[in-house]
Amino acid sequence: MKHIIQKRHILVGLSGGIACYKGCDLVSRLVQLGAEVRVVMTENATRFVGTVSFQALCGSPVYTDTFGSVDPGGIDHIRLTEFSEIFVILPATANVLAKMAHGLADDLLSTTYIACNCPVLAVAAMETKMYNHPATQVNLKLLEKRGVHVLHPETGYLASGKKGVGRLPGRERIIERIALVLGATSYLAGKTVLVTAGPTQEALDPVRYLTNPSTGKMGFAIARAAMRMGAQDVHLVTGPTELDTPFGVKRHDVVSAADMLKAVKPLAGKVDLVVAAAAVSDFAPEKVSKTKLKKSAQGEKTTLPLAQTPDILAFASKNRKKGAVVVGFAVETDKEIQNAMGKLKKKALDYIVVNNPRNEGAAFGGDTNRAVILDAGGNRVELPLMSKDELAERLLELVSGKLKK
Ligand code: C5P
Repeated sequence: MKHIIQKRHILVGLSGGIACYKGCDLVSRLVQLGAEVRVVMTENATRFVGTVSFQALCGSPVYTDTFGSVDPGGIDHIRLTEFSEIFVILPATANVLAKMAHGLADDLLSTTYIACNCPVLAVAAMETKMYNHPATQVNLKLLEKRGVHVLHPETGYLASGKKGVGRLPGRERIIERIALVLGATSYLAGKTVLVTAGPTQEALDPVRYLTNPSTGKMGFAIARAAMRMGAQDVHLVTGPTELDTPFGVKRHDVVSAADMLKAVKPLAGKVDLVVAAAAVSDFAPEKVSKTKLKKSAQGEKTTLPLAQTPDILAFASKNRKKGAVVVGFAVETDKEIQNAMGKLKKKALDYIVVNNPRNEGAAFGGDTNRAVILDAGGNRVELPLMSKDELAERLLELVSGKLKK
């Protein structure tokens, strides 16, 4: 991690939340890791911690005022955007997130945000009610959709004395994410990627089908992260979902497992990386009725003969390009590691991402996941509860180490 942080230009934006004091520790650590840090503070932030502290820690004057220039002869917010390779905003309060989402630029921090074209990492922290408020949630989603990296708050002790979601993530977690974002642009440079996502629908008749509650969010997050990491081509083969196509991704819409296989077949042998995040139905009705199936007589039992669907991941693994890396997902509700390892071996995968939808935050359709990543060598990386976007980045960072440069 140090080699990624060293000599990088990091702009830290502090806003007025009590967690602002933790910014001192972060800035200090970044400087120790060899980064060149500049600090911009909102007026409210200066009420929590004085500019002198940050000036001493980063060794440079602190920027606070849109009109009182620190750099003589320069316009501070433009100078700052030219300086920074990443803009880390913390604590990203409900107010700052709202300004970012709606383009308000009424102080130096928000003006710098709207003027900058480097990656932005918003580290959210606030009281639980403020975080859970629909306005904050909508703003966070909007910002993530626009490519802002968001580190969501953790659950724990809050300044109010209560326990709940809203606590600023720990320093090392923030630094890990900064390193990921800074290193990210090159992890998959020039690589081609195939991602499967979403549920499949297996028709019984013209109006009914078998499916599952997958929303496709995990696969879409992986496709989005792959683009951010410099992939040359990202193909996203997806079952029915409501999600918007991530910028630059080539989307192939399918309905059933058989359709998904048809879409994957011409791509599987061409790509450098396959990530199968789709929740493919394991069974499909043996026959699809051309007309709507009628109810049988009251009380009479009906049976529905099912056939197994093709295993798309197993096909992609078997027919991979030489040197390609193949990653599967496993949803397990018991003996997670043992069952997932069995799947990894059976399908000859390089990695498998295991999650248990019964765990808090790991349910189908949510925005978060808690996963363990296993590799063919028996290594395991246990990840804490995190957003699907963050999990996608962590996974691709890990996997990119195995791809030939
Ligand atoms: O064997 P199981 O269905 O649990 O394996 C899960 C993994 O296999 C996931 O990565 C899923 O996307 C993939 N899969 C597939 N085609 C199927 C079933 C599962 O690609 N028919």
